[in-house]
Amino acid sequence: MNTWSSTSWKSKPVAQDVHYDNPQEVDAIVTALGRLPPLVTAWEVDRLRGLLAEAQEGRRFLLQGGDCAESLSECRPDIIINRQKIFLQMSLVLIHGGHRPVIRVGRIAGQYAKPRSKPTEMRNGVELPSYFGDLVNRPDFTSEARRADPRLMLDCYHHAAMTLNLVRSLSDGGFADVHHPENWDLSFFRQAAVPPELRTEYEQTTHKLSEALGFMEALGERTVTDLTRVDFYTSHEGLNLHYESAQTHRVPQRTGWYDLTTHMPWIGERTRSLDGAHVEFFRGIRNPVGVKLGPSVKPEDAVRLAERLCPDNEPGKLVFITRMGVQRVTDALPPLVQAVRNAGRRVLWVCDPMHGNTTTTSSGIKTRSFNDVLREVELTLDVHEQLGSHLGGVHFELTGEDVTECVGGAAGITEQDLERNYATLCDPRLNYRQALEMSFRIAQRMSRLPRVPRS
Ligand code: PEP
Ligand code: CO
Repeated sequence: MNTWSSTSWKSKPVAQDVHYDNPQEVDAIVTALGRLPPLVTAWEVDRLRGLLAEAQEGRRFLLQGGDCAESLSECRPDIIINRQKIFLQMSLVLIHGGHRPVIRVGRIAGQYAKPRSKPTEMRNGVELPSYFGDLVNRPDFTSEARRADPRLMLDCYHHAAMTLNLVRSLSDGGFADVHHPENWDLSFFRQAAVPPELRTEYEQTTHKLSEALGFMEALGERTVTDLTRVDFYTSHEGLNLHYESAQTHRVPQRTGWYDLTTHMPWIGERTRSLDGAHVEFFRGIRNPVGVKLGPSVKPEDAVRLAERLCPDNEPGKLVFITRMGVQRVTDALPPLVQAVRNAGRRVLWVCDPMHGNTTTTSSGIKTRSFNDVLREVELTLDVHEQLGSHLGGVHFELTGEDVTECVGGAAGITEQDLERNYATLCDPRLNYRQALEMSFRIAQRMSRLPRVPRS
Protein backbone atom coordinates (compact mmCIF):
# COMPACT_ATOMS: atom_id res chain seq x y z
CA MET A 1 0.00 0.00 0.00
CA ASN A 2 1.33 3.47 -0.87
CA THR A 3 2.06 6.01 1.83
CA TRP A 4 -0.90 8.16 2.64
CA SER A 5 -0.84 11.95 2.57
CA SER A 6 -3.67 14.46 2.42
CA THR A 7 -3.02 14.71 -1.32
CA SER A 8 -2.17 11.07 -2.17
CA TRP A 9 -5.73 10.76 -3.55
CA LYS A 10 -4.58 12.81 -6.54
CA SER A 11 -2.70 9.81 -7.92
CA LYS A 12 -5.92 7.75 -8.12
CA PRO A 13 -8.90 7.90 -10.47
CA VAL A 14 -11.36 10.49 -9.14
CA ALA A 15 -14.94 9.38 -9.74
CA GLN A 16 -17.35 12.32 -10.25
CA ASP A 17 -14.34 14.58 -10.77
CA VAL A 18 -14.92 18.29 -11.25
CA HIS A 19 -13.37 19.98 -14.23
CA TYR A 20 -12.06 23.41 -13.18
CA ASP A 21 -10.74 25.66 -16.00
CA ASN A 22 -7.92 27.09 -13.97
CA PRO A 23 -5.96 24.69 -11.74
CA GLN A 24 -3.81 27.53 -10.28
CA GLU A 25 -6.93 29.21 -9.00
CA VAL A 26 -8.03 25.93 -7.37
CA ASP A 27 -4.64 25.65 -5.64
CA ALA A 28 -4.85 29.23 -4.37
CA ILE A 29 -8.34 28.67 -2.98
CA VAL A 30 -7.33 25.40 -1.33
CA THR A 31 -4.43 27.19 0.36
CA ALA A 32 -6.72 30.00 1.54
CA LEU A 33 -9.27 27.49 2.82
CA GLY A 34 -6.61 25.57 4.72
CA ARG A 35 -5.66 28.69 6.66
CA LEU A 36 -9.15 29.38 7.96
CA PRO A 37 -10.22 28.12 11.39
CA PRO A 38 -11.71 24.62 11.34
CA LEU A 39 -15.47 24.05 11.47
CA VAL A 40 -15.19 21.24 14.01
CA THR A 41 -12.55 20.14 16.49
CA ALA A 42 -10.57 16.94 16.77
CA TRP A 43 -11.91 16.59 20.29
CA GLU A 44 -15.48 16.45 18.99
CA VAL A 45 -14.50 14.02 16.24
CA ASP A 46 -12.95 11.66 18.80
CA ARG A 47 -15.99 11.96 21.02
CA LEU A 48 -18.33 11.05 18.17
CA ARG A 49 -16.16 8.03 17.35
CA GLY A 50 -16.58 6.90 20.96
CA LEU A 51 -20.36 7.27 20.78
CA LEU A 52 -20.52 5.36 17.50
CA ALA A 53 -18.49 2.57 19.11
CA GLU A 54 -21.26 2.25 21.71
CA ALA A 55 -23.86 2.23 18.95
CA GLN A 56 -21.97 -0.69 17.37
CA GLU A 57 -22.73 -2.62 20.54
CA GLY A 58 -26.40 -1.67 20.43
CA ARG A 59 -26.10 0.75 23.33
CA ARG A 60 -26.85 3.89 21.30
CA PHE A 61 -28.72 4.65 18.10
CA LEU A 62 -27.68 7.03 15.33
CA LEU A 63 -30.15 9.44 13.77
CA GLN A 64 -28.57 11.03 10.70
CA GLY A 65 -30.51 13.35 8.43
CA GLY A 66 -31.05 16.60 6.64
CA ASP A 67 -31.26 17.96 3.12
CA CYS A 68 -30.23 16.00 0.08
CA ALA A 69 -28.44 19.17 -1.05
CA GLU A 70 -27.92 22.21 1.11
CA SER A 71 -27.83 25.47 -0.80
CA LEU A 72 -26.33 28.89 -0.21
CA SER A 73 -29.68 30.60 -0.76
CA GLU A 74 -31.38 28.44 1.86
CA CYS A 75 -28.86 29.25 4.56
CA ARG A 76 -31.72 30.95 6.44
CA PRO A 77 -32.49 31.04 10.16
CA ASP A 78 -36.07 29.75 9.84
CA ILE A 79 -35.01 26.78 7.74
CA ILE A 80 -32.11 25.90 10.03
CA ILE A 81 -34.24 26.25 13.17
CA ASN A 82 -37.10 24.17 11.79
CA ARG A 83 -34.71 21.46 10.69
CA GLN A 84 -33.12 21.32 14.13
CA LYS A 85 -36.55 21.18 15.72
CA ILE A 86 -37.79 18.19 13.77
CA PHE A 87 -34.50 16.48 14.33
CA LEU A 88 -34.69 16.93 18.06
CA GLN A 89 -38.32 15.82 18.17
CA MET A 90 -37.56 12.69 16.15
CA SER A 91 -34.66 11.88 18.42
CA LEU A 92 -36.84 12.13 21.55
CA VAL A 93 -39.40 9.79 20.00
CA LEU A 94 -36.66 7.32 19.05
CA ILE A 95 -35.10 7.42 22.52
CA HIS A 96 -38.51 6.65 23.94
CA GLY A 97 -39.19 3.72 21.60
CA GLY A 98 -35.69 2.31 21.33
CA HIS A 99 -34.75 2.70 25.01
CA ARG A 100 -31.31 3.92 24.15
CA PRO A 101 -29.68 7.32 23.74
CA VAL A 102 -29.68 8.77 20.25
CA ILE A 103 -26.62 10.28 18.55
CA ARG A 104 -27.76 13.18 16.38
CA VAL A 105 -25.79 13.76 13.18
CA GLY A 106 -27.09 16.26 10.64
CA ARG A 107 -26.52 16.30 6.90
CA ILE A 108 -25.69 19.91 7.46
CA ALA A 109 -23.03 22.64 7.35
CA GLY A 110 -21.29 21.16 4.31
CA GLN A 111 -23.76 19.00 2.34
CA TYR A 112 -23.12 21.14 -0.74
CA ALA A 113 -21.64 18.70 -3.27
CA LYS A 114 -23.75 16.26 -5.27
CA PRO A 115 -22.79 13.26 -7.39
CA ARG A 116 -24.79 13.07 -10.61
CA SER A 117 -25.76 10.14 -12.81
CA LYS A 118 -24.81 12.11 -15.95
CA PRO A 119 -22.04 14.70 -16.33
CA THR A 120 -24.17 16.88 -18.61
CA GLU A 121 -27.80 17.87 -18.85
CA MET A 122 -29.75 18.47 -22.05
CA ARG A 123 -32.65 20.95 -22.26
CA ASN A 124 -34.33 21.95 -25.53
CA GLY A 125 -31.31 20.84 -27.54
CA VAL A 126 -28.83 22.72 -25.32
CA GLU A 127 -26.26 20.65 -23.42
CA LEU A 128 -24.56 22.04 -20.29
CA PRO A 129 -22.66 20.50 -17.36
CA SER A 130 -24.99 19.03 -14.74
CA TYR A 131 -25.48 20.87 -11.46
CA PHE A 132 -23.04 19.30 -8.99
CA GLY A 133 -24.17 21.23 -5.91
CA ASP A 134 -23.39 24.76 -4.72
CA LEU A 135 -19.85 23.73 -3.77
CA VAL A 136 -19.11 23.31 -7.48
CA ASN A 137 -21.52 25.27 -9.69
CA ARG A 138 -24.98 26.87 -9.66
CA PRO A 139 -28.38 25.36 -10.52
CA ASP A 140 -29.49 27.91 -13.17
CA PHE A 141 -29.38 26.49 -16.67
CA THR A 142 -26.85 28.92 -18.19
CA SER A 143 -23.28 28.21 -19.21
CA GLU A 144 -22.00 30.78 -16.71
CA ALA A 145 -23.93 29.24 -13.79
CA ARG A 146 -22.89 25.71 -14.69
CA ARG A 147 -19.17 26.55 -14.93
CA ALA A 148 -17.27 24.94 -12.04
CA ASP A 149 -16.13 27.87 -9.88
CA PRO A 150 -13.54 27.14 -7.17
CA ARG A 151 -14.49 30.32 -5.27
CA LEU A 152 -17.72 28.54 -4.34
CA MET A 153 -15.64 26.37 -2.00
CA LEU A 154 -14.91 29.46 0.09
CA ASP A 155 -18.53 30.65 -0.09
CA CYS A 156 -19.78 27.27 1.05
CA TYR A 157 -17.23 27.13 3.84
CA HIS A 158 -18.41 30.52 5.13
CA HIS A 159 -22.05 29.45 4.93
CA ALA A 160 -21.26 26.19 6.69
CA ALA A 161 -19.64 28.22 9.48
CA MET A 162 -22.71 30.47 9.80
CA THR A 163 -25.04 27.47 9.82
CA LEU A 164 -23.00 25.72 12.44
CA ASN A 165 -22.84 28.84 14.57
CA LEU A 166 -26.64 28.90 14.85
CA VAL A 167 -26.87 25.13 15.31
CA ARG A 168 -24.36 25.24 18.14
CA SER A 169 -26.24 28.04 19.92
CA LEU A 170 -29.56 26.22 19.54
CA SER A 171 -28.05 23.01 20.83
CA ASP A 172 -26.90 24.76 23.93
CA GLY A 173 -30.31 25.03 25.53
CA GLY A 174 -32.07 27.25 22.99
CA PHE A 175 -34.92 24.86 22.39
CA ALA A 176 -36.90 24.77 25.63
CA ASP A 177 -40.31 24.38 23.95
CA VAL A 178 -39.22 21.45 21.82
CA HIS A 179 -38.80 19.32 24.90
CA HIS A 180 -42.49 19.55 25.52
CA PRO A 181 -44.41 17.34 23.14
CA GLU A 182 -47.57 19.22 24.13
CA ASN A 183 -46.16 22.10 22.03
CA TRP A 184 -45.55 19.98 18.94
CA ASP A 185 -47.72 20.33 15.90
CA LEU A 186 -49.51 17.00 16.03
CA SER A 187 -52.90 18.13 14.81
CA PHE A 188 -52.49 16.20 11.57
CA PHE A 189 -52.68 12.93 13.50
CA ARG A 190 -56.34 13.71 14.00
CA GLN A 191 -57.04 13.60 10.28
CA ALA A 192 -59.50 11.07 8.97
CA ALA A 193 -56.77 9.28 7.00
CA VAL A 194 -55.04 8.08 10.17
CA PRO A 195 -56.35 4.71 11.34
CA PRO A 196 -57.73 4.96 14.91
CA GLU A 197 -55.19 2.44 16.35
CA LEU A 198 -52.30 4.49 15.04
CA ARG A 199 -53.80 7.71 16.30
CA THR A 200 -54.20 6.21 19.77
CA GLU A 201 -50.64 4.93 19.65
CA TYR A 202 -49.25 8.34 18.66
CA GLU A 203 -51.25 10.06 21.37
CA GLN A 204 -50.11 7.59 24.00
CA THR A 205 -46.47 7.93 23.02
CA THR A 206 -46.64 11.72 23.12
CA HIS A 207 -48.37 11.59 26.46
CA LYS A 208 -45.77 9.22 27.91
CA LEU A 209 -42.97 11.38 26.55
CA SER A 210 -44.48 14.49 28.12
CA GLU A 211 -44.80 12.71 31.42
CA ALA A 212 -41.26 11.39 31.34
CA LEU A 213 -39.84 14.81 30.51
CA GLY A 214 -42.06 16.46 33.13
CA PHE A 215 -40.78 13.97 35.67
CA MET A 216 -37.19 14.75 34.77
CA GLU A 217 -37.95 18.42 35.07
CA ALA A 218 -39.50 17.93 38.49
CA LEU A 219 -36.21 16.42 39.61
CA GLY A 220 -34.53 19.75 38.96
CA GLU A 221 -34.00 21.96 35.98
CA ARG A 222 -30.39 20.92 35.44
CA THR A 223 -31.38 17.38 34.72
CA VAL A 224 -33.60 18.29 31.82
CA THR A 225 -31.13 20.81 30.50
CA ASP A 226 -28.47 18.11 30.58
CA LEU A 227 -30.76 15.68 28.86
CA THR A 228 -31.64 18.12 26.15
CA ARG A 229 -28.57 20.30 25.81
CA VAL A 230 -28.12 18.26 22.75
CA ASP A 231 -24.90 17.01 21.42
CA PHE A 232 -25.15 17.56 17.73
CA TYR A 233 -22.69 16.46 15.08
CA THR A 234 -22.34 17.25 11.40
CA SER A 235 -21.80 15.10 8.33
CA HIS A 236 -21.76 15.45 4.57
CA GLU A 237 -20.76 13.45 1.53
CA GLY A 238 -17.01 13.96 1.14
CA LEU A 239 -17.25 14.28 -2.59
CA ASN A 240 -15.02 17.20 -3.47
CA LEU A 241 -11.60 16.15 -2.25
CA HIS A 242 -10.07 19.59 -2.87
CA TYR A 243 -12.43 20.93 -0.21
CA GLU A 244 -11.91 18.05 2.22
CA SER A 245 -8.14 17.89 1.93
CA ALA A 246 -7.77 21.68 2.32
CA GLN A 247 -8.99 21.41 5.91
CA THR A 248 -7.26 18.14 6.79
CA HIS A 249 -4.68 18.80 9.46
CA ARG A 250 -2.61 17.35 12.22
CA VAL A 251 -3.67 18.57 15.63
CA PRO A 252 -1.50 19.15 18.72
CA GLN A 253 -1.60 16.37 21.36
CA ARG A 254 -3.22 13.86 19.01
CA THR A 255 -1.89 11.45 16.48
CA GLY A 256 -3.07 11.30 12.91
CA TRP A 257 -4.90 13.58 10.54
CA TYR A 258 -8.35 15.06 11.00
CA ASP A 259 -10.73 16.30 8.33
CA LEU A 260 -12.04 19.39 10.11
CA THR A 261 -14.80 20.35 7.66
CA THR A 262 -17.17 17.96 9.43
CA HIS A 263 -17.34 15.33 12.16
CA MET A 264 -18.37 12.41 9.98
CA PRO A 265 -17.86 12.53 6.22
CA TRP A 266 -19.23 9.71 4.11
CA ILE A 267 -18.29 8.16 0.78
CA GLY A 268 -21.20 7.96 -1.66
CA GLU A 269 -22.48 4.98 -3.60
CA ARG A 270 -20.89 6.29 -6.81
CA THR A 271 -17.44 7.00 -5.39
CA ARG A 272 -16.69 3.97 -3.22
CA SER A 273 -14.43 2.16 -5.69
CA LEU A 274 -11.68 0.37 -3.76
CA ASP A 275 -8.94 1.77 -5.95
CA GLY A 276 -10.41 5.21 -6.32
CA ALA A 277 -9.42 8.58 -4.90
CA HIS A 278 -12.17 8.75 -2.28
CA VAL A 279 -11.27 5.51 -0.53
CA GLU A 280 -7.62 6.58 -0.70
CA PHE A 281 -8.34 9.93 0.95
CA PHE A 282 -10.69 8.65 3.66
CA ARG A 283 -8.47 5.75 4.69
CA GLY A 284 -6.00 8.25 6.13
CA ILE A 285 -8.11 10.32 8.51
CA ARG A 286 -9.15 9.86 12.12
CA ASN A 287 -12.80 10.86 11.62
CA PRO A 288 -15.47 8.20 11.66
CA VAL A 289 -16.30 7.57 8.00
CA GLY A 290 -19.53 6.40 6.43
CA VAL A 291 -19.84 4.40 3.21
CA LYS A 292 -23.07 4.09 1.26
CA LEU A 293 -23.72 0.56 0.07
CA GLY A 294 -26.32 -0.11 -2.62
CA PRO A 295 -27.63 -3.45 -3.88
CA SER A 296 -24.83 -3.87 -6.40
CA VAL A 297 -22.08 -4.14 -3.78
CA LYS A 298 -20.46 -7.55 -3.56
CA PRO A 299 -20.05 -8.90 -0.02
CA GLU A 300 -16.30 -9.41 -0.59
CA ASP A 301 -15.98 -5.77 -1.70
CA ALA A 302 -17.69 -4.62 1.46
CA VAL A 303 -15.15 -6.62 3.46
CA ARG A 304 -12.28 -5.10 1.47
CA LEU A 305 -13.68 -1.63 2.04
CA ALA A 306 -13.75 -2.32 5.76
CA GLU A 307 -10.15 -3.59 5.69
CA ARG A 308 -8.97 -0.60 3.71
CA LEU A 309 -10.85 2.11 5.60
CA CYS A 310 -10.44 0.66 9.06
CA PRO A 311 -7.35 -1.57 9.02
CA ASP A 312 -7.07 -1.64 12.82
CA ASN A 313 -10.71 -2.57 13.25
CA GLU A 314 -11.07 0.40 15.52
CA PRO A 315 -14.45 0.69 17.29
CA GLY A 316 -16.68 3.51 16.05
CA LYS A 317 -14.56 4.23 12.99
CA LEU A 318 -16.59 2.77 10.17
CA VAL A 319 -20.27 3.20 9.38
CA PHE A 320 -21.88 1.14 6.64
CA ILE A 321 -24.98 2.93 5.40
CA THR A 322 -27.04 0.45 3.41
CA ARG A 323 -29.51 1.78 0.83
CA MET A 324 -30.85 -1.30 -0.86
CA GLY A 325 -34.42 -0.31 -1.71
CA VAL A 326 -37.49 -2.02 -0.38
CA GLN A 327 -37.51 -4.58 -3.20
CA ARG A 328 -33.92 -5.70 -2.74
CA VAL A 329 -33.17 -5.39 0.94
CA THR A 330 -34.16 -8.88 2.05
CA ASP A 331 -31.98 -10.58 -0.54
CA ALA A 332 -29.08 -8.11 -0.77
CA LEU A 333 -28.47 -7.26 2.89
CA PRO A 334 -28.02 -10.67 4.62
CA PRO A 335 -24.95 -11.79 2.58
CA LEU A 336 -23.31 -8.45 3.34
CA VAL A 337 -23.90 -8.65 7.08
CA GLN A 338 -22.71 -12.25 7.14
CA ALA A 339 -19.55 -11.59 5.11
CA VAL A 340 -18.58 -8.66 7.30
CA ARG A 341 -19.20 -10.67 10.41
CA ASN A 342 -17.31 -13.74 9.15
CA ALA A 343 -14.36 -11.53 8.33
CA GLY A 344 -14.44 -10.22 11.91
CA ARG A 345 -14.82 -6.60 10.78
CA ARG A 346 -16.38 -4.09 13.12
CA VAL A 347 -18.87 -1.70 11.53
CA LEU A 348 -21.93 0.27 12.54
CA TRP A 349 -24.88 -0.75 10.37
CA VAL A 350 -27.13 2.13 9.41
CA CYS A 351 -30.13 2.08 7.08
CA ASP A 352 -30.69 4.83 4.50
CA PRO A 353 -34.19 3.98 3.27
CA MET A 354 -34.31 6.96 0.90
CA HIS A 355 -31.85 6.37 -1.92
CA GLY A 356 -33.00 2.91 -3.00
CA ASN A 357 -36.63 4.03 -3.13
CA THR A 358 -36.71 6.92 -5.57
CA THR A 359 -39.38 6.70 -8.27
CA THR A 360 -40.63 9.01 -11.01
CA THR A 361 -44.31 9.88 -11.44
CA SER A 362 -46.03 9.71 -14.81
CA SER A 363 -45.53 13.48 -15.08
CA GLY A 364 -41.79 13.07 -14.53
CA ILE A 365 -41.44 14.19 -10.88
CA LYS A 366 -38.91 12.40 -8.67
CA THR A 367 -40.56 11.17 -5.49
CA ARG A 368 -40.46 8.54 -2.73
CA SER A 369 -43.27 6.83 -0.94
CA PHE A 370 -43.55 7.07 2.84
CA ASN A 371 -44.55 3.42 2.98
CA ASP A 372 -41.55 2.20 0.97
CA VAL A 373 -39.21 4.20 3.17
CA LEU A 374 -40.76 2.87 6.36
CA ARG A 375 -40.88 -0.67 5.01
CA GLU A 376 -37.18 -0.67 4.15
CA VAL A 377 -36.35 0.32 7.74
CA GLU A 378 -38.62 -2.42 9.09
CA LEU A 379 -37.18 -5.06 6.78
CA THR A 380 -33.65 -3.96 7.64
CA LEU A 381 -34.46 -4.31 11.34
CA ASP A 382 -35.83 -7.80 10.61
CA VAL A 383 -32.66 -8.84 8.77
CA HIS A 384 -30.38 -7.68 11.57
CA GLU A 385 -32.58 -9.29 14.19
CA GLN A 386 -32.58 -12.60 12.33
CA LEU A 387 -28.81 -12.55 11.93
CA GLY A 388 -28.14 -11.50 15.51
CA SER A 389 -26.54 -8.18 14.53
CA HIS A 390 -27.76 -4.65 15.38
CA LEU A 391 -29.22 -1.98 13.22
CA GLY A 392 -27.37 0.93 14.75
CA GLY A 393 -29.05 3.87 13.08
CA VAL A 394 -31.15 5.44 10.35
CA HIS A 395 -30.34 8.04 7.71
CA PHE A 396 -33.02 10.30 6.21
CA GLU A 397 -33.43 13.14 3.78
CA LEU A 398 -35.79 15.46 5.57
CA THR A 399 -36.66 19.07 6.22
CA GLY A 400 -38.62 20.91 8.89
CA GLU A 401 -40.63 22.71 6.18
CA ASP A 402 -44.06 21.84 4.84
CA VAL A 403 -42.79 20.70 1.44
CA THR A 404 -44.55 18.23 -0.83
CA GLU A 405 -41.82 16.01 -2.24
CA CYS A 406 -42.52 12.50 -0.89
CA VAL A 407 -45.97 10.91 -1.16
CA GLY A 408 -47.95 9.24 1.63
CA GLY A 409 -47.99 9.35 5.39
CA ALA A 410 -50.84 10.51 7.59
CA ALA A 411 -50.62 13.96 6.02
CA GLY A 412 -51.96 12.21 2.91
CA ILE A 413 -49.70 13.71 0.26
CA THR A 414 -50.65 12.43 -3.17
CA GLU A 415 -48.95 12.68 -6.55
CA GLN A 416 -51.26 15.60 -7.37
CA ASP A 417 -49.92 17.51 -4.35
CA LEU A 418 -46.28 17.22 -5.41
CA GLU A 419 -46.24 20.39 -7.46
CA ARG A 420 -47.64 22.49 -4.58
CA ASN A 421 -44.34 22.94 -2.76
CA TYR A 422 -41.61 20.90 -4.41
CA ALA A 423 -38.53 22.77 -3.24
CA THR A 424 -35.59 20.35 -3.19
CA LEU A 425 -32.58 21.01 -5.39
CA CYS A 426 -31.95 17.30 -5.68
CA ASP A 427 -33.77 14.35 -4.05
CA PRO A 428 -37.25 14.43 -2.45
CA ARG A 429 -37.26 14.88 1.35
CA LEU A 430 -39.70 13.90 4.07
CA ASN A 431 -41.51 17.01 5.30
CA TYR A 432 -42.04 17.92 8.97
CA ARG A 433 -45.10 15.72 9.45
CA GLN A 434 -43.79 12.78 7.49
CA ALA A 435 -40.50 12.87 9.37
CA LEU A 436 -42.20 12.98 12.75
CA GLU A 437 -44.60 10.22 11.82
CA MET A 438 -41.69 8.15 10.52
CA SER A 439 -40.00 8.42 13.90
CA PHE A 440 -43.20 7.29 15.65
CA ARG A 441 -43.47 4.26 13.40
CA ILE A 442 -39.82 3.29 13.79
CA ALA A 443 -39.97 3.82 17.54
CA GLN A 444 -43.01 1.56 17.66
CA ARG A 445 -41.08 -1.19 15.85
CA MET A 446 -37.94 -0.63 17.92
CA SER A 447 -39.81 -0.97 21.19
CA ARG A 448 -39.96 -4.71 20.43
CA LEU A 449 -36.17 -5.03 20.25
CA PRO A 450 -34.41 -6.73 23.13
CA ARG A 451 -32.91 -4.24 25.56
CA VAL A 452 -29.13 -4.10 25.67
CA PRO A 453 -27.82 -3.71 29.21
CA ARG A 454 -25.93 -0.51 29.95
CA SER A 455 -22.32 -1.16 30.80
C1 PEP B 1 -27.13 11.16 -1.00
O1 PEP B 1 -26.99 10.73 0.16
O2 PEP B 1 -27.68 12.24 -1.28
C2 PEP B 1 -26.69 10.30 -2.14
C3 PEP B 1 -26.40 10.79 -3.32
O3 PEP B 1 -26.67 9.00 -1.78
P1 PEP B 1 -26.05 7.71 -2.51
O4 PEP B 1 -24.58 7.96 -2.61
O5 PEP B 1 -26.38 6.62 -1.56
O6 PEP B 1 -26.74 7.57 -3.83
CO1 CO C 1 -29.96 12.38 -1.94
